[in-house]
Amino acid sequence: MRILAISGSLRTASGNSRLIEALPALVPPGVEVVIWRGLDTLPYFNPDLDGETPPTAVAELRRQVGLAHGLVICSPEYAHGVSGAMKNALDWLVSSLEFPAIPLALINAAPRAVHAIAHLRETLTTMSAAFVEAACVTVPLQGRDLSPAQIPEVPEVGGVLARAMADFCAALPALQAQRLFDNRS
Ligand SMILES: Cc1cc2nc3c(=O)[nH]c(=O)nc-3n(C[C@H](O)[C@H](O)[C@H](O)COP(=O)(O)O)c2cc1C
Repeated sequence: MRILAISGSLRTASGNSRLIEALPALVPPGVEVVIWRGLDTLPYFNPDLDGETPPTAVAELRRQVGLAHGLVICSPEYAHGVSGAMKNALDWLVSSLEFPAIPLALINAAPRAVHAIAHLRETLTTMSAAFVEAACVTVPLQGRDLSPAQIPEVPEVGGVLARAMADFCAALPALQAQRLFDNRS
């Protein structure tokens, strides 16, 4: 199984990105985590650019979504909203054939960031993501200087994420079968 993981932060020392980087050590054996780091290579969303040949970075993002059995998103809150970089990526995916019904784990790395996660949930619901509720967790990572290698060692962060990823991966085969069925019918 292949999971695509995207951080909504462009910051070098990003906590959301460190959490995403920790995922390969937190998923069950046999599950591959592909981290997509191309958020800042996407142009600003413009439907005029979304013709027969979309921008290269957009095509690559859509290809990665199509290859993935599940998607993990972890994004910061800015001014009570979703990070612009993440929202831009989602706008490019709205019209993609690959996105609908993709199994989704929405991770919040900051308990106080309640607005962005609600906005993300609304947007992703509108885009027909298949939320795996057991895998949508909030962990208290913000303010802790944990490296990706240290995250699995901290029970309230790594332990919670490992359980979330186990539940996520357990749900993927049935959801993937449904996704393929939906896409063919
Ligand atoms: C311009 C700006 C606005 C922010 N607004 C909020 C906010 O509304 N709510 C919140 O919980 N955190 C807010 N934060 C804090 C960030 O969400 C926090 O620093 C987070 O760790 C950034 O994610 P990163 O570490 O992955 O880059 C803001 C930070 C910045 C720089």
